[in-house]
Amino acid sequence: MRPLKHLFGIADLDREQIEYLVNLGHSFIDINRRSLKKAPTLRGKTIINLFFENSTRTRTSFELAGKRLSGDVINISASTSATTKGESLLDTAQTLAAMQPHVLVIRHSLAGTCELLADYLPHTALVNAGDGAHEHPTQILTDLLTLKQAWGSPEGKVITIVGDIAHSRVARSHLLAAKKLGYTMRVVAPKTLLPSKIERYGCEVYNDFDAALPGSDAVYLLRIQTERLTDSCAFPSIREYHEAYGLNAKRLRAAGPDCIVMHPGPMNRGVEIATEVADSAKSHILSQVEHGVAVRMAVLTTLCGGTGEEA
Ligand code: CP
Repeated sequence: MRPLKHLFGIADLDREQIEYLVNLGHSFIDINRRSLKKAPTLRGKTIINLFFENSTRTRTSFELAGKRLSGDVINISASTSATTKGESLLDTAQTLAAMQPHVLVIRHSLAGTCELLADYLPHTALVNAGDGAHEHPTQILTDLLTLKQAWGSPEGKVITIVGDIAHSRVARSHLLAAKKLGYTMRVVAPKTLLPSKIERYGCEVYNDFDAALPGSDAVYLLRIQTERLTDSCAFPSIREYHEAYGLNAKRLRAAGPDCIVMHPGPMNRGVEIATEVADSAKSHILSQVEHGVAVRMAVLTTLCGGTGEEA
C-alpha cells in the first residue's frame, strides 16, 4: 500500500488505502466492546486534538481512539487557547508541533487547513477532522465501515444523500469515495442548497426527494448547516423543509424494505429526520458513532507507523 503521511481528504486516498483503513478499523471494533478497552499500539505516541469548531462525535472518538490504544492524548479547543489572544492558526500549530507530538488532529472552518499547515510542520502527521465545507475523511471511513458491516461492500449500491449538500464536507467526501469504490450517489436538495456543477462528481441529482427514493439502498440525511448558511431564503420554513425533504416512515417505506438510514450527526429531529425513523430498526446512526472510534484507531495507528498487530 502507498504509505500515508497525513490524512487530508478522500481525494488523496486510492481505493487500496481506503479499504486498508476500513479493514483495520473493522479489526478494532472488538477492543471497543471488551470490558478492558486497552491495547498497547500507540504507547509512547502523542496525539493533539486541536478543534476550532464544535464537535461531539469526532473529538470524543479521536480522544477515545488514542487513549484505548495507550497513546497520550491532549485536547485543545480554540475557545480556551491563545487564539483568543490573537495568535494565528499557523503560530498555534507551530507552537504545538514544537512540543513534538506524533499526530495533530485539526478541525477548522477554513477549507484546506491541513494542506496549508503541512509545509510548516514537516515532522508531524496531520489529520483533517473537518475543514469548512471541504472534506471530512474520517466520517466517510466511519460510514464505509458501517456499510461493510451492513452489506459487506458498498460496490453497486445506491446511497441517496439528502439535505444541505452545498455546505456539507461529508457529502463532498462521499462523492469522491463513491467514484473510487464503485457506488452510486443520488444527491437530493432544493436548488438553493446544491453547489453549482455538482454533476461533475458523476452523481445523480434530484430536487424531488420522493422521486429519488425508489431503488435507494441507503438514505443518508444531512442537517442544514445554519452556521455556514449565508442565504436566509434557502428554503421557506423549517416546516416546509421537513415536508419536502424530511425522512419519515412513509418515505422510508417507499425506498424499499431493505433500505437503511444513516446520518453523520448532529441530527435535528423534526427537520431532516423524523423521530420514528431516527429510532427505528432501520437506523444505523448509532453504529456510525460506534465505528467512528474504531476507524480513528485505524487512522492513528497507520499514521504512527503501526499495523494493528500489537492490538
Ligand atoms: N459527524 C460529526 O462530525 O459530528 P461532530 O460535529 O459531533 O464531530
